[in-house]
Amino acid sequence: MANVVVVGSQWGDEGKGKIVDWLSERADVVVRFQGGHNAGHTLVVDGKTYKLSLLPSGVVRPGKLSIIGSGVVFDPHAFVAELERIRALGVEIGPDRLKIAENTPLILSLHRELDGFREDAASNSGTKIGTTRRGIGPAYEDKGGRRAIRIMDLAEPDTLPMKVDRLLTHHNALRRGLGHPEVAHETIMAELTSVAGEILPYIDRVWKVLDDKRRAGERILFEGAQGTLLDVDHGTYPFVTSSNTVAGQAAAGSGVGPGAIGYVLGITKAYTTRVGEGPFPSEQDNEVGQFLGERGHEFGTVTGRKRRCGWFDAVLVRQAVAVNGIDGIALTKLDVLDGLDEIKVCTGYRLDGEVIDYLPASQGAQARVEPIYEVLEGWQGTTKGARSWNDLPAQAVKYVRHIEELIGAPVALLSTSPERDDTILVTDPFQD
Ligand code: GDP
Ligand code: IMO
Ligand code: MG
Repeated sequence: MANVVVVGSQWGDEGKGKIVDWLSERADVVVRFQGGHNAGHTLVVDGKTYKLSLLPSGVVRPGKLSIIGSGVVFDPHAFVAELERIRALGVEIGPDRLKIAENTPLILSLHRELDGFREDAASNSGTKIGTTRRGIGPAYEDKGGRRAIRIMDLAEPDTLPMKVDRLLTHHNALRRGLGHPEVAHETIMAELTSVAGEILPYIDRVWKVLDDKRRAGERILFEGAQGTLLDVDHGTYPFVTSSNTVAGQAAAGSGVGPGAIGYVLGITKAYTTRVGEGPFPSEQDNEVGQFLGERGHEFGTVTGRKRRCGWFDAVLVRQAVAVNGIDGIALTKLDVLDGLDEIKVCTGYRLDGEVIDYLPASQGAQARVEPIYEVLEGWQGTTKGARSWNDLPAQAVKYVRHIEELIGAPVALLSTSPERDDTILVTDPFQD
């Protein structure tokens, strides 16, 4: 029996939320291990839509334990707002069903502001990242800089002012330098104390909770956010998020050993999308991209921004299979390709006159690569809502099989609509 890690194998928004929700029926515990409320994970259950940013996607299933690990950056005010929003949809969540690691670093208003200041300034110089402006990057910088306020600090009011001072010494120097007003000590103290009472009941020693669950033989599902190409080491740097999004992070970001992970499931869209700036070799800034965007409803869950769309890039996903150790993929949104006469797949790049089969690491080379396409025949029937292989047009099956071959990993799950149950199981990741 394996614990399963779900990661995005492209630039995020692959359908992780839908698949985690579906898989969570087979799990006891669902754990977020990186990222923050930059994530937007959508689940649709019997026509009812849930959009989750910080809460793990197992939260809508009664009886499952949800965990936020210390690899996450945690905005307490966003958390409280999300709890309220999800409770209003009839989901019951209390400290018995949701635990937050006590050592999780906080996102504060000054992080959000700094994210915005930098993006605004970069807009004028053409160097912006296109972040979600949620303060993710600045919060991870403070964690690495050893000056973050962590969630358990809220329980120690005597030493909190000293920690806030240390943080402000850094931030106010930065803000002065960037030409922005300083933040008052009282502002941050008020921000923290106003929310402490609501948050503290949820905090716990998550490493211990997970160790106990493992020893009891319970099944753990680790829910990644973002995607492999947004990983701070392995992605299209600097157009990435500020955390490791790859499967290896599941262990560090929740406090289990790497041996706890038995199966890595890469969530993979049947075409490619990206939100924000940065290289995108198979992008179709034309009627094909428009078709995919409209048919796939490709608008950001968090920011509402239009997602850039393009053909499936097998080079990137093959690389994601390697850096994550992906055992199988969940292929999503196949239905979006229904009705196309032909479908292109990127199988390699041309770089400075040479053919390569990987994404180069340098920013300059990433901007220069030109995709090499294979053209496949489309299908005229529909895959939308299909719940078994037999319901798929022959040409759609051929497309799926060809992708498996190109990326070097099998399809374990196939998703054919946003609805939870429009999912075809090929191999159960928990049984593999
Ligand atoms: P995540 O960030 O990886 O969880 O993905 P998002 O929720 O941001 O974006 C995926 C979008 O595609 C959501 O609106 C889902 O409801 C939707 N979706 C997921 N799987 C499928 C599918 O197989 N077909 C279609 N048409 N939509 C899907
Ligand atoms: P889910 O979990 C898609 C992108 C942003 C930007 C870059 C950095 O829903 O797949 P950040 O705010 O993290 O500093 O922004 O990363 N980004 C995402 N793109 N899906 C996400 O999450 C994303 N989270 C961040 O658009 O390009
Ligand atoms: Mg998303």
